[in-house]
Amino acid sequence: MNYKLAFEVERGDFETAGDASRKIKRTLQQLGISNKIIRKVSIAGYEGEMNLAIHSLGGTILLTVAEKEIDLTIEDRGPGIQDLSLAMTEGWSTAGDEARRMGFGAGMGLPNMQKNADHFQIDSKVGVGTKIAMKFFL
Ligand SMILES: Nc1ncnc2c1ncn2[C@@H]1O[C@H](COP(=O)(O)OP(=O)(O)OP(=O)(O)O)[C@@H](O)[C@H]1O
Ligand SMILES: [Mg+2]
Repeated sequence: MNYKLAFEVERGDFETAGDASRKIKRTLQQLGISNKIIRKVSIAGYEGEMNLAIHSLGGTILLTVAEKEIDLTIEDRGPGIQDLSLAMTEGWSTAGDEARRMGFGAGMGLPNMQKNADHFQIDSKVGVGTKIAMKFFL
């Protein structure tokens, strides 16, 4: 089995933000993945999707389901993160008023992604973009 699904997430599109993670969840259910893993991938996917909508200029989510693992790769086209260790700190957020009014900005998304994934790698370059590669072992 090697199943791939890709999503485009636009900047500031709060109407459709959440669609990709919902589709990912449904797909994993149809593939018969255990609820425990679906929960982890869904949380990480949702946080990543929201970060694309709120903090990035737009990007993509790529889901790959293989025999022994699920890969979730989230990549955007900027603006990049200046200080990764600060961004990974629980409670640290640069979310603006609009995002905060909608309940975002607790500064918990990236730490939660790291907690839920079995493997978590974040790379970022200011002016270029951010890439997060996560693995969930089946
Ligand atoms: N894709 C991204 N591009 C640029 N900056 C980002 C990106 N993702 C996260 N950041 C930065 O890292 C900070 C921390 O992200 P994190 O997801 O942990 O918290 P948050 O999005 O601010 O709040 P929460 O996720 O709890 O609603 C963000 O406030 C933002 O400054
Ligand atoms: Mg977030």
